[in-house]
Amino acid sequence: MIEEIRAAQADALVRLAAVSTPIELSDVIAETIGKKGVLAAFRNRLGGLVSVDERKAVGAVVNEAIAAAQAAADARRTEFATAVRTAQLAAERIDLTEVIARPTRGHSHIVTQAWERLEDVFTGLGFQVAEGPEVETDFYNFEALNMPPSHPARSMHDTFFVDYGTPGSTVLRTHTSPVQIRVMQHWPPPIYAIMPGRVFRNETPDATHLPVFHQIEGLVIDRHITLADLAGTIEAFTKAFFGEGFSSRLRPSFFPFTEPSAEFDIRRPDGTWIELGGSGMVHPNVLRAGGLDPEEWSGFAFGFGIDRMAKERHGVDDIRVMYSDDLRFVEQF
Ligand code: DAH
Repeated sequence: MIEEIRAAQADALVRLAAVSTPIELSDVIAETIGKKGVLAAFRNRLGGLVSVDERKAVGAVVNEAIAAAQAAADARRTEFATAVRTAQLAAERIDLTEVIARPTRGHSHIVTQAWERLEDVFTGLGFQVAEGPEVETDFYNFEALNMPPSHPARSMHDTFFVDYGTPGSTVLRTHTSPVQIRVMQHWPPPIYAIMPGRVFRNETPDATHLPVFHQIEGLVIDRHITLADLAGTIEAFTKAFFGEGFSSRLRPSFFPFTEPSAEFDIRRPDGTWIELGGSGMVHPNVLRAGGLDPEEWSGFAFGFGIDRMAKERHGVDDIRVMYSDDLRFVEQF
């Protein structure tokens, strides 16, 4: 009978190993170690054995066979449970991966790019950077720049007035030139300064004008400064900023704060010209307003539009699109 039990055990183990579903496993368990199973049936046959010792010995073999089959069945059950759990996890998995199609890092506005490059070029030429307030007094914006009340040149600046103090005494600065006065009042000469910033004019926007735009001012104050220093500085700047193939020229003009005054143009390699800005020798009245003695100090100044510069550089034909939020425009630069 022991042989029979061992054979039944081996058979049970083979069948348990072969099942491929939990249902098949339950069937095989029922048919082997279940109450009516083949192995359990040996227990019923123990009573037919005469000797107690034999019963004990054979009973032990039956118990071993059942325990072995039970262990194998448990292992298979665990195996199926694990497989079910794994499949369930796979089915319920939520994909939290964030898909970024392409890098979306932004970049500086083209006016900011021009502003920063201008600062780089001028600091490379030995200039320091200064900034002044956007809300100015009439004194700094006009009077100290040799434009007393009712000076005709004031009418060229369509001024935004701020409702503060005596009517007309506070303005949004119409140019960066007032910063010249502030720098002269605060920095002991010699002065080599550039003053970039935002300026405001009450103008209707069109392809070449905006009510808010940007300028950069230059101021040099030293002993024995002449018009040749102005021309040389503009030329050095032109080559450094635009490239070796570019050159500059001064054209006689008029500004109240400089005497003599000149406009300056940049010549492109193809021979065409860009009208860039104004310049001149600092007027003695302006030096005095800045607290400097015109007998001791002389200097030159210049100023031009930064937006203009960016517009020219990138061939933009309408300045208004430079301030639109149209990504098709913005992403080109
Ligand atoms: N402030 C002038 C303007 O806005 C530009 C200018 C002209 C600045 C001559 C200067 C200068 O420093 O010398 O039109």
